[in-house]
Amino acid sequence: MHSIGLRYPDARVNETDLKIRDILQNPDRRRLEAIRRLEWTGHNIPLSETESTLGRDKGLIGDDPRTTTIKSLIRRFVASPRPLRILDLGSLEGGLSFELAREGWDVTGMEGRAGNLEKGEMIREYFGLDNLRFELRDVKTLSPERDGRFDAVVCCGLLYHLDNPFAFLRTLRAITADDGLLFVDTHVAPDETSARHETYAAHLSGLVSFDHGGHRYEGCWFAEPSGGSTVEQQWSAISNERSFWPTRRSLISATYHAGFPKILELFGMFDIDREFGLREQFSRLYLAAVTRL
Ligand SMILES: C[S@@+](CC[C@H](N)C(=O)[O-])C[C@H]1O[C@@H](n2cnc3c(N)ncnc32)[C@H](O)[C@@H]1O
Repeated sequence: MHSIGLRYPDARVNETDLKIRDILQNPDRRRLEAIRRLEWTGHNIPLSETESTLGRDKGLIGDDPRTTTIKSLIRRFVASPRPLRILDLGSLEGGLSFELAREGWDVTGMEGRAGNLEKGEMIREYFGLDNLRFELRDVKTLSPERDGRFDAVVCCGLLYHLDNPFAFLRTLRAITADDGLLFVDTHVAPDETSARHETYAAHLSGLVSFDHGGHRYEGCWFAEPSGGSTVEQQWSAISNERSFWPTRRSLISATYHAGFPKILELFGMFDIDREFGLREQFSRLYLAAVTRL
């Protein structure tokens, strides 16, 4: 049995979580069967006490240190009274959105691929969550006029699929509340501190400069995969053929320039030796950006 409810020692029990626990114990067999028939590629979401979207031999998304870290950061840094408004960008199969909604927060998952969005929708319906919604949209269309402001914006695995991450970071600041939080999980261009291995060499240009908002940044162009595996097809950019990966220094500077004066780089998403190995191999970065500490 999954250790439902004991995973987040500081989580508060809320109505949404109780509802989810009830469904896990008494699943709707017809809906469960429909979810089982879909091809799941990334998010392992619990479906019953014994089943999940990717199977019991993989870790559940709720137990992933990235998920628990995001939840803890939101609880610690965001002061607004509940329910908080949370935006999960490039929500894929909806697992992270589901986990955030499980906290009782009001969550929007924004996803550009209908096939991915459909899976999140099925999870939302399966658990009957009225504090979770999914929008089929290119994240580049976000604006404070249309979308308002969010207490926390979760930008995981998405920034490195955009052709102007610098402009996008400014949009993210505009849609984040003044006492809000931005969480970023992204690849960066390999540089002397982030990667020595050649994992993406075939897809990455040499180091080039990119001028935006009066600043000069550095990074590499990444050729988005076309065709390829199911994962490549379902996880890649939706509206650009190449994306810009800033260097670690440029990404942190651009986040600062976008209006987040306090930026924490996070470690501890994996066992620390594994984490350094992964960082060197994949030049990955985790940031929590806030307007004040
Ligand atoms: C690598 S996956 C990351 C999934 C998830 N955020 C996570 O970290 O587990 C990237 C997701 O972003 C979506 N995506 C890529 N570019 C997008 C865009 N411009 N607008 C909306 N979604 C986009 C893809 O369809 C895919 O679901």
